[in-house]
Amino acid sequence: MANPNNPTGTWFNAHALDEFLSRIPERVIVVLDEAYVEYVEESHYPNGIDRLEKYPNLVVTRTFSKIYGLAGLRIGYGVSSPQIADVLNRVRQPFNVNTPAQVAAEAALPMTITSKIPAARTPAAWCRSPKACRRCILSRSLRGQLHCL
Ligand SMILES: Cc1ncc(COP(=O)(O)O)c(C=O)c1O
Repeated sequence: MANPNNPTGTWFNAHALDEFLSRIPERVIVVLDEAYVEYVEESHYPNGIDRLEKYPNLVVTRTFSKIYGLAGLRIGYGVSSPQIADVLNRVRQPFNVNTPAQVAAEAALPMTITSKIPAARTPAAWCRSPKACRRCILSRSLRGQLHCL
C-alpha cells in the first residue's frame, strides 16, 4: 500500500492504517510504501516505522529518489522486523547498492531539505535509534559506511 499514493496523491490516516493492520493475520506480510513520506504535512498521517513494534509483519519502504532527488542512483531502504530483514537479505542480489549511491545517501541522511519536513520522518531521525537501525533491510553494504545501520 502506498501512503501517500502516486499518482493520485491520496493518503490514509492513522486510524485507517491501524484498523487495517489489526485485521491482517500475522503470517501475511504488509508492505507500506512511504516513498513520499517526507512531503506529508497532515497531522493524522501515520508513520509506518512507529508501528513496527506492534506489527512484526509490516515492512516499510522508503526511497532517496524523491525528497533527496537521487532517483538515478537507485537507492532506497526498507525497515522491518529482524526476521523479515534476514530473509530478504538472503534472497537479494549481492552488491545491490553501488558505491556512488551509498556515498550520496550517506551525505543525504543528515540533510533537512526544507524546514517543513518533520524531523522524525527523515532517515536521519530513525537512523539515530539503534533499535530501528538493526531493522534495515536493503542497506547491508551501506551499513559499514554509515556506522549506524
Ligand atoms: C509511490 C511510489 N513508491 C515507490 C516509487 C519508487 O521509487 P524508487 O525510485 O526508489 O524506485 C515511486 C516512484 O515513482 C512511487 O511513486
